[in-house]
Amino acid sequence: MLIKRPEDIKPSEITDQSVYKSRRRFLATAVAAAGMSIGGGLFYRGGDVHAQTAAGKKLAAYKGLPLGPFSTDEDLSDYDDVTSYNNFYELGTRKEDPARNAHQLKTSPWTIEVSGECDKPGTYHLEDILDKQPLEDRIYRLRCVETWSAVIPWVGFSLGDTLKRFQPNSQAKYVYFETIYDPKNLKTQNIKVLDWPYREGLRIDEAMHPLATLAVGMYGEVLPNQNGAPLRLVLPWKYGFKSIKSIVAIRFMREEPDTTWNMLQPREYGFYANVNPGVSHPRWSQKRERRLGEWLKRDTEMFNGYGEQVASLYSGMDLTKFF
Ligand code: MTE
Repeated sequence: MLIKRPEDIKPSEITDQSVYKSRRRFLATAVAAAGMSIGGGLFYRGGDVHAQTAAGKKLAAYKGLPLGPFSTDEDLSDYDDVTSYNNFYELGTRKEDPARNAHQLKTSPWTIEVSGECDKPGTYHLEDILDKQPLEDRIYRLRCVETWSAVIPWVGFSLGDTLKRFQPNSQAKYVYFETIYDPKNLKTQNIKVLDWPYREGLRIDEAMHPLATLAVGMYGEVLPNQNGAPLRLVLPWKYGFKSIKSIVAIRFMREEPDTTWNMLQPREYGFYANVNPGVSHPRWSQKRERRLGEWLKRDTEMFNGYGEQVASLYSGMDLTKFF
C-alpha cells in the first residue's frame, strides 16, 4: 500500500476520504441487506465528489449493472489504494509510477487487431466490441504474485463470448494478447526493462471459462489509465501478471505463445500462473497475502478461492510442474 507522507496530503483529500469511507460502510450494509443483489455502481463512490470528473460524466451508463457470475460479497478494497498502487511497467516500474504517468497513455481512438486461427479476423473498434457485450459488475479478487491482493468491482463482460464472435477455428488451441506499443508517449518503453510489447496468453479452454473477464471499468466508472484502460483482462484465479492491460491485439494460435514474464524469468513465472500457495516463487513464499488497506496477512487460497469453478480445467496436470 502506498503510504502518503503527511505533507503530501491536502486538506481537501481528507474531507473526500471521510465522505468516501462512510459511503463504503453504507455499501457494505447495503450489500449484506440486499443479499448480493446490488445494482452496481450506485453507491460506489461519492457522486458529489466524483460526478464532477470527466470519467464520472462519461460513464453514467456504467451504473446499475447486473451482478456478474461468481461475484464475491467480501469488502471492497479502497478505490484510492487500487488506483495508486499498481503494476503497469509501460508507465514506470515503481508502484506509484502508473498513477503519476497515467496521462502518457492515449486511449482514444482504440482498435483491436484480431488475427490467427479464426474466421473473422480484422481490426475492430473498441466501440464495436462494447456495443455487442452486456456489461456486468463482476466483483472479483485480484492476487498479484508479489503477495498483495484486492477485491475490485470490475465493470466487464465475458472474454469467451467476445472471442466467439471472431469464430476461432479448430486449430485455435491458445489465445495471445498484446498491449499497446507506443514508445513516443509511453516513456518507459524506451528502456528495455521488459521485452516490449507486454504479451500474455491462455489456453483456449481457460479463455472460454465464464470467470475470464474483459474489463472496461471499475467501481462503476471507466477504467483509470493506470489500471489498464481502455480494455484489460481480469483472470481472478491467476496471478495478476496474466491480467494484461490496454490490449491492442488478440491472436488465435496453434502453439503456446510467448509471454512477457515467462520469457524474462521462466523459473519464476510459469505460463499457467494459477494462484497456488503450495508453489513458492523462488524468491518468496506464496502462502500468505496482504489485502490492500489491511495490516494483517491472510492465507492465500488455491486458485485464489475459485477452485470450485476452475479446478477441472487442470485435472490430471502436475501443477508444481505447470506452475
Ligand atoms: N499489463 C501490462 N500491459 N503491463 C504491466 O506491467 N502488470 C501486470 C498486470 N498487467 C502489467 C500488466 C501485473 S504484474 C499485475 S500484478 C497487474 O497487472 C496489476 O494490476 P493493477 O495495477 O490493476 O492492480
